[in-house]
Amino acid sequence: MDSTYSKVKTGIPGFDSIISGGLKIGRSVTVSGPPGSGKTTFGLQYLHSGAKDFDEPGVYLAMSQNIDDLKNDCKSYGWDFDDLITKEKILMVDARPFKIKDELIGKDESLYRGEQLPFEHLTKLLLSSIKRIKAKRVVIDSLTILAMQYHDQFYMRQGLQGMVQALENFGVTSLILSEYSERDKIPLEWFVTSGIIQLRHTRKEDTMERTIQVTKMRGIKHSEQIHLIELDSDGLHLLHPKLIP
Ligand SMILES: Nc1ncnc2c1ncn2[C@@H]1O[C@H](COP(=O)(O)OP(=O)(O)O)[C@@H](O)[C@H]1O
Ligand SMILES: [Mg+2]
Repeated sequence: MDSTYSKVKTGIPGFDSIISGGLKIGRSVTVSGPPGSGKTTFGLQYLHSGAKDFDEPGVYLAMSQNIDDLKNDCKSYGWDFDDLITKEKILMVDARPFKIKDELIGKDESLYRGEQLPFEHLTKLLLSSIKRIKAKRVVIDSLTILAMQYHDQFYMRQGLQGMVQALENFGVTSLILSEYSERDKIPLEWFVTSGIIQLRHTRKEDTMERTIQVTKMRGIKHSEQIHLIELDSDGLHLLHPKLIP
């Protein structure tokens, strides 16, 4: 067994066993999939388990959904984020470029002053949030929203590279969620991050089958199978996990 690196357990039942025990500490990994495939669930479960089972605080950066709605939806999985937020084990940061202000939709000027590089603001916001609760885990949900603001691929790549490097320097293990369907162009984050986890849902007769696949995980021996997953009242779990030594 390779024990030369520290492992960060995702706590997602069955998942750690297919990546030799856990993620590499300090690395960033992309979690990609189409809408409804379970990206947000995967991210929040990683943070919830980190805070509850491993005493590892986590930062959740919301780029698209309202935090109250998210916390509310999590109740169907039995996760109480309010309690963890009070105990400073979780910090949920609203970084949506547009949000409801005074009952109107307004642009968040504190983050996006029309500058070319909102990545810089975002990275600063992330680092101050990490320091605040001494976070060990980060989830960005999702990068796709940010990428849409960039027409210049060079700036996008540099910005992302800088953010991933900064997170690595802080020793936090991050999940970068990204929207991806098979017909899309390969997203930049697939190249820049250390790993790719793909979530899918496909039609099977009169129902849908959900799966997870580890497409890339630098420096880790991982399963090459496509594993069936299920979302139920406890969150996401693998149906037939295989042990990877
Ligand atoms: N308590 C639950 N039990 C089973 N499935 C659930 C539950 N809550 C949500 N889901 C499923 O999870 C899906 C949401 O997944 P989500 O993590 O938001 O996906 P994504 O972020 O990829 O769009 C819902 O569309 C629903 O099918
Ligand atoms: Mg989502």
